[in-house]
Amino acid sequence: MIEDRDFFVLEPAADSVLNDIFDEPKPLYVEIGSGKGEFISRYPKSHLNWNFIGLEMSEKRIRNCLKKLSVEQNPNVRLVRKFVDVGIKDLFRSQSVSGVFIQHPDPWPKRKHHRRRLIQQDFLDALAEILIPEATVQVSTDHSDYAAWIVEEFLNNPH
Ligand SMILES: C[S@@+](CC[C@H](N)C(=O)[O-])C[C@H]1O[C@@H](n2cnc3c(N)ncnc32)[C@H](O)[C@@H]1O
Repeated sequence: MIEDRDFFVLEPAADSVLNDIFDEPKPLYVEIGSGKGEFISRYPKSHLNWNFIGLEMSEKRIRNCLKKLSVEQNPNVRLVRKFVDVGIKDLFRSQSVSGVFIQHPDPWPKRKHHRRRLIQQDFLDALAEILIPEATVQVSTDHSDYAAWIVEEFLNNPH
């Protein structure tokens, strides 16, 4: 497992971008908040012609993900322990990411905590900088209030 951790978990230098970490260049997809790794351990297996980077802030969750990953079955996956916010624009080169997946982002249901929600204007502006034209952003949530908020934020964003 230590060897696998060395393979999967990147510790990028502060001023470097994550684009060049795969030996084989392929369209790059990013998952934000990989949680226990359900998505990042499965979906990339059927998309071996794409590369995937999971950004997850919690070390415990990174360890959960590692339990589901194997070098043989997930050669196109890497993880980075990182709190994602507008700073995502500094992790990737401009117009270099083909798509972003965000599965069940924390809904922060209390009104006073809404400002903590990931999906809001400054974050969408940052995403727009790193995404290629025609990129896809897939967001899933079962929280109806956050779902409506997300739609509103996307509709209100000029990008
Ligand atoms: C509600 S869980 C969802 C996990 C997984 N995507 C799923 O669908 O089961 C949210 C996950 O995102 C991570 N997370 C929340 N905010 C984050 C942020 N700003 N940057 C990186 N990870 C974050 C949390 O640590 C947690 O693992």
